Amino acid sequence: MCGIVGYVGSQSALDVVLAGLKRLEYRGYDSAGVAVPADGGLAAAKKAGKLVNLEKELVGRPLPSGSTGIGHTRWATHGGPTDVNAHPHLDNAGRVAVVHNGIIENFAALRAELTERGHELASETDTEVVAHLLAEEYSSCDDLAESMRLVCRRLEGAFTLVAVHADAPDVVVGARRNSPLVVGVGKGEAFLASDVAAFIDHTRSAIELGQDQVVELRRDGVTVTTFDGRPAEVRSYHVDWDASAAEKGGYDYFMLKEIAEQPKAVADTLLGRIDTAGSLTLDEVRISDQELRELDKVVIVACGTAFHAGLIAKYAIEHWTRVPCEVELASEFRYRDPILDHRTLVVAISQSGETMDTLMAVRHAREQGARVLAICNTNGSTIPRESDAVLYTHAGPEVAVASTKAFLTQLVACYLVALYLGQIRGTKWGDEIRAVIRDLSRISREVERVLETMEPVRELARTLATKKTVLFLGRHVGYPVALEGALKLKELAYMHAEGFAAGELKHGPIALIEEDLPVVVVVPSPAGRSLLHDKIVSNIQEIRARGARTIVIAEEGDETVAPYADHLIRIPATPTLLQPLVSTVPLQVFACELATARGNEVDQPRNLAKSVTVE
Ligand code: F6R
Repeated sequence: MCGIVGYVGSQSALDVVLAGLKRLEYRGYDSAGVAVPADGGLAAAKKAGKLVNLEKELVGRPLPSGSTGIGHTRWATHGGPTDVNAHPHLDNAGRVAVVHNGIIENFAALRAELTERGHELASETDTEVVAHLLAEEYSSCDDLAESMRLVCRRLEGAFTLVAVHADAPDVVVGARRNSPLVVGVGKGEAFLASDVAAFIDHTRSAIELGQDQVVELRRDGVTVTTFDGRPAEVRSYHVDWDASAAEKGGYDYFMLKEIAEQPKAVADTLLGRIDTAGSLTLDEVRISDQELRELDKVVIVACGTAFHAGLIAKYAIEHWTRVPCEVELASEFRYRDPILDHRTLVVAISQSGETMDTLMAVRHAREQGARVLAICNTNGSTIPRESDAVLYTHAGPEVAVASTKAFLTQLVACYLVALYLGQIRGTKWGDEIRAVIRDLSRISREVERVLETMEPVRELARTLATKKTVLFLGRHVGYPVALEGALKLKELAYMHAEGFAAGELKHGPIALIEEDLPVVVVVPSPAGRSLLHDKIVSNIQEIRARGARTIVIAEEGDETVAPYADHLIRIPATPTLLQPLVSTVPLQVFACELATARGNEVDQPRNLAKSVTVE
């Protein structure tokens, strides 16, 4: 949430920063702003709304050029999305400018203190106090990094801060606590950003900043210290994707591109993890076999779409390993008193690796002695760094706010963890598991086949553009798929959408069914699981009898559902537990098309942002 860019080098800072902000706009699009030290002063511009508004403003009122600069794209927390509340925030003399991601929890007390000392604060934000505090500190030490360290020691909450000062035009200083910030190192230039995507056009050489660290960027080098001023250890890494991965590549929306990339994302996530003999090698799971054998419980924590991946994982983990598995929303887990110890494996699923609720759940779990395995898509992010081990998904950068390819790869990673646990513990390890591994290694082709047949789904979605409500039903692993289908529709099409376990219908939700109400039903595989399959066929008949318009997702060759389907969407036959990898795809396409038909912004839905770094 909120995108931050900082640059020092020899290029036009404004160009670099604006291009970086464009790449980070997925993190928030309530306002945007930039600041450049130039001509002995500090020039700044900021505008409510998307980055394009700021760009227009800069055409009418260009800033002087400079080769140091900072920029921000905002997801509003404190104070509405206005010009005044937009970042950067400056001190009263206009000498220091700061951008911020996170929440400064003690800002009210700091503001009162500053007001008493004669400072005038113009905005409603928590950020502005930092500009004033930095100006005060700088006036006594003439050192922006030291000023930042002194200020940070007074702040409570989560924050990434990046600042420039008119008196130090060749320096950018950043600080981080519980919010993402990465350094990019180029030749004679350096970058700071919330995400490597902001500087990937210039360098693939990155440095991960740790907790409570301050970084000073100059053309000739980067210095990292702790908030106390001690030199800090940092980890450098090479970004293994290039700029084209962060471009739309001919698609109208990132979401369309990311949906289309799913077969590759799935295949990449499996790559090198299944050997030719059909066994799993997960070297990166640095938790000893002994500890994995001694586990007596798995607890999955995650938010949103990642939580739905966790719900599906529960079915796989319990079936393949016979270890009890609980799945909990990270935001609930961290505020209760869960029963955990060293025999609990907590699996934290997060695409961004920065989601504050999930991060806090990880800390909560580790404090109680549980081992934590992260499933994450973002190299160097906080959640894997704070976990005992990490299994990276290889979806590549996901830019659209609504998660698609990350979800499918999270599922793959969950299956791998479940199968690996089964392999280590020797539970249920037999023909069934071997067959599943075989099917998993071929599944990306099945995802591709689903994508090839999506035109009727798009057509159907367009006909439903004026509907107010769509319901989703599923059983077994189809239930979390129904929840995911409903979430996608809510966030993209702004429609009332709810997912239910089909067995729960008769306990209440069936009262919602009325004439021509679209109800999407995810039908389990018929082969060998007739009980579950037949139950849902009965559910379809029940809602149809009450007037629902049934949109049925069923496997190829499943003819029993056909008479009750007003619209039939076919998916390839897969083992039941793997079915979500193919059944979710039509629901993503459906939501994307409905959003387009309703004139919504597909990649940047209202009120949302990717990477939720506030509670
Ligand atoms: C929905 C969506 C969100 C995220 C959630 C967790 O499409 O993208 O629900 O899944 O905010 O984000 P991560 O996985 O980054 O922790």
